[in-house]
Amino acid sequence: MNKQDTVAVVMGGPSSEAEISRVTGTAIADALTEKGYQIERIELDPLTLRSRLEACGAKVVFNAVHGMYGEDGRLQCLLEALHMPYTGSRMLASAVAMDKVVTKKFLVAEKISTPDYLIFGKKDAQDLQRVKETICRTLGVQTVVKAATQGSSIGVVIVKEESGIIPALEEAFRLSENVLVEKCISGRELTVALMEEDGAPKALPVIMIAPHSGSYDFHSKYTKGATDYLVPAPLTESVTAHVQELAVRTYLALGLSGVARVDIMLDEAGQGYVLEANTVPGMTPTSLVPKAAAAVGISFPELCEKILVSAK
Ligand SMILES: Nc1ncnc2c1ncn2[C@@H]1O[C@H](COP(=O)(O)OP(=O)(O)O)[C@@H](O)[C@H]1O
Ligand SMILES: [Mg+2]
Repeated sequence: MNKQDTVAVVMGGPSSEAEISRVTGTAIADALTEKGYQIERIELDPLTLRSRLEACGAKVVFNAVHGMYGEDGRLQCLLEALHMPYTGSRMLASAVAMDKVVTKKFLVAEKISTPDYLIFGKKDAQDLQRVKETICRTLGVQTVVKAATQGSSIGVVIVKEESGIIPALEEAFRLSENVLVEKCISGRELTVALMEEDGAPKALPVIMIAPHSGSYDFHSKYTKGATDYLVPAPLTESVTAHVQELAVRTYLALGLSGVARVDIMLDEAGQGYVLEANTVPGMTPTSLVPKAAAAVGISFPELCEKILVSAK
């Protein structure tokens, strides 16, 4: 692409993460403007997207939409139909990564280390007492209950006591038809950003996430100063290599493209467990992917440009 081509930065939309997406999209649009690109900022409305893109003569879309549409394959589907090149993962990989239950099946099929789990569906929602007994018997009480298709820690409940299981299941089933229950891994929380270089994923330095409150919930994620981020994470060389390898294998197993971020828990013994992959990771200058890129000398505008030129 050349710099005269209009780049549409698409953000917002109907998802519960729209507000955060607008911050991401605005930061990307500002950075690419600074780099000399012609930028059109578009608030996602699926019904008018086509005419908006045509009106500005966009040649490529920078996808900055978190959650619904941007991360679940729907926006990708629309753009494929319009023959419009776009950044990040394709339709199917996006849909797989957005669904924690489906992701789990891909990880298990590829023998990628991930917490022990149970999956519950619609008919289980009718008998939560029985579901609770199954959980206690097979995973124990210390679990994490997750709605299959939410992000940003919405619909994720860490259960510490038996009395917390049913309320957690109720909340998860309110948000999603399928629910994933995982064994809780106590240890350290890590995340690995990946970029695509010459068609292959390359892991950036590992980030260690240390929330002051002890749990990395919505508040810890989005409140300034509530969490410390250590990059590169203070880990031995072999643990770092192990965690980066898990991230690369996850990227390949899910068939991702462009930039992505894989969340991993590390237990006391140094074993990593993959939680999930994020296909449209936050991209404000203080987000995690830009922090990892900065650790290898890539500035925020450079990072945005690298992602843009990898659009296909
Ligand atoms: N199995 C687990 N063991 C311990 N902590 C977990 C586990 N699963 C999730 N968590 C915690 O919950 C957070 C959110 O879970 P995650 O699966 O990454 O979903 P999302 O980021 O989409 O809300 C993680 O960042 C981590 O702090
Ligand atoms: Mg996560």
